Amino acid sequence: MTMDYQSLFRPGILKVRPYAPGKPVKEVQRELGLDDVIKLASNENPEGPLPEVVAAMQAALAEVNRYPDGAAYDLTQALAAHHDVDPGSILLGNGSNEVLDMLVRGLVSPDENFVYSSHSFIVYGLAGSIHFETGRAVPMAAGWRHDLDAMAAAVDENTKLVIICNPNNPTGTYNTAGELDAFLARIPDTTIVAMDEAYYEYVTAPDYPQTLPMLATRPNLMLLRTFSKIHSLAGMRVGYGLGHPDLVAELQKTREPFNVGSVAQAGALACLEHWSVVEGRALRNRQQLEWMSAELDRLGLVVIPSQTNFIFCTLPGRSGGELAQGLLQAGVIVRPMDAFGLPDGEGAVRISVGLPTENQRCVEALEKVMG
Ligand SMILES: Cc1ncc(COP(=O)(O)O)c(C=O)c1O
Repeated sequence: MTMDYQSLFRPGILKVRPYAPGKPVKEVQRELGLDDVIKLASNENPEGPLPEVVAAMQAALAEVNRYPDGAAYDLTQALAAHHDVDPGSILLGNGSNEVLDMLVRGLVSPDENFVYSSHSFIVYGLAGSIHFETGRAVPMAAGWRHDLDAMAAAVDENTKLVIICNPNNPTGTYNTAGELDAFLARIPDTTIVAMDEAYYEYVTAPDYPQTLPMLATRPNLMLLRTFSKIHSLAGMRVGYGLGHPDLVAELQKTREPFNVGSVAQAGALACLEHWSVVEGRALRNRQQLEWMSAELDRLGLVVIPSQTNFIFCTLPGRSGGELAQGLLQAGVIVRPMDAFGLPDGEGAVRISVGLPTENQRCVEALEKVMG
């Protein structure tokens, strides 16, 4: 018997384009028959978790017959101490992705909206299309940056949430403290502003906004951080929001029970205990980012200055999809940018910073692909 399942779903769901992640190494090995494949497509940390973090997760494995601590007491306390905030300010998610989802689901009714920037993290648009098509994308400013003026202008009496990705994925660009202050001054207290700071620890720009102290005076601000990037726990799925305890208390109601697994909690806790490695990781990333940016520039690509662990570059007139495909044939997985709403003819690709040997290989492969 055949059944038309599509007709069972809300009309909005039919239009959803499922999230297309960077291709896994194993998939490329299988499909192209290649042994030696490297992935520079998902902005992961190539260094991997510390042995102490792995050991903490291994120890937690012995007790996975039990449900995790649903309130994640130890991790919440440790995060609160680390950021010097009330434990009630912490909202843990199955990745910061889930925190984004809680914000959209919890705050925005079907006849309301939330505002975000075009050419930003795909999940915002996806959350909007799943959630009653409530997302409102605002075109970017020149230089591939969020247009905060236009975003403030797009906020109306039905806007419950604005999401700002700073620094932005996929462009690596950022908005300054001054720009953010001017933006916030225009936003009513009844609109929550979520600052997605997944790449916070990689930033070096002196005029990047330090948002944590702003929480004390801005009750509508929510910060999103993650263990997936500099802490190397992308596979464990732990992220968190920081916000006013009353706001967090409401959002907690939308959280699924046991949303962060016990092994993930143990890993994140161990990362916090070894926070001192973050500086060295950021520094090594920066050195490679600069080397790679210079090499891509030498090859003739337009390189957008990045504050993150990835590089957004364009080769106007060429197909970004073809460039990415060419690199794939050489065993280097990068991210073509069509899913991020960029025209293929911009020749746009996003390349995550890998280990020095991986970056070298990527540049050599690109040189060949570009002919
Ligand atoms: C800007 C941004 N926000 C959030 C996330 C999701 O991170 P997590 O792994 O914590 O869900 C990503 C992951 O790529 C990202 O680039």
